[in-house]
Amino acid sequence: MKLFIDTANLDEIREVNRWGVLEGVTTNPSLIAKEQRDFKETVKEIASIVDGPISAEVISLKAEEMVEEAKALVDIHPNIVIKVPMTEEGLKATKLFSEQEIRTNVTLVFSAAQALLAAKAGASFVSPFLGRLDDIGHNGMDLITEISHIFDRHLIDTEIIAASIRRNTHVTEAAAAGAHIATIPYTVFKQMVKHPLTDLGIQRFLKDWENAVK
Ligand code: E4P
Repeated sequence: MKLFIDTANLDEIREVNRWGVLEGVTTNPSLIAKEQRDFKETVKEIASIVDGPISAEVISLKAEEMVEEAKALVDIHPNIVIKVPMTEEGLKATKLFSEQEIRTNVTLVFSAAQALLAAKAGASFVSPFLGRLDDIGHNGMDLITEISHIFDRHLIDTEIIAASIRRNTHVTEAAAAGAHIATIPYTVFKQMVKHPLTDLGIQRFLKDWENAVK
């Protein structure tokens, strides 16, 4: 499974990138707005830090306008992937992008039917939102399992990005369920590193070392 970071914050991206584990970045309009910086400049800087797919989302709701909006984004860097909402217009845009060999990430996927349509339209990636399904009392992980089963069974090469990740077990469970990628918030990356027994182990080693080496 590949690990992406779900943020537009450059410090967070730089830090996790230094760990040597980062293979891509996803952003969305809310994450970009939080940074209060120019959208294209931010995307350009992200692409200069991470060598992997960088999802930049269009905000237009009409297919032709999405295509227009994407022109300025794809020119930024060859790694830019256009993030498109899972709507009828989004599907039309996905089809147009795939004809131009522009990669797309169809976002806001909440059912296997939506994932299948996105794949058929030519999406390079689909993003099922685990956390938001869990929030309304569904089991987000079941959706990853279902999409993964359908894609495997029908040899569909669209990659599944487990999105809306809320905790470290979401990442490992999504890996076991067949997601190709998890896009992970910075706080969850930090959580993944930590284990109380690791901290305790370090303390104990240091104490023993101090006692022995005088
Ligand atoms: C996916 O690409 C989205 O940016 C993201 O995972 C949304 O997650 P949220 O439910 O935490 O906003």
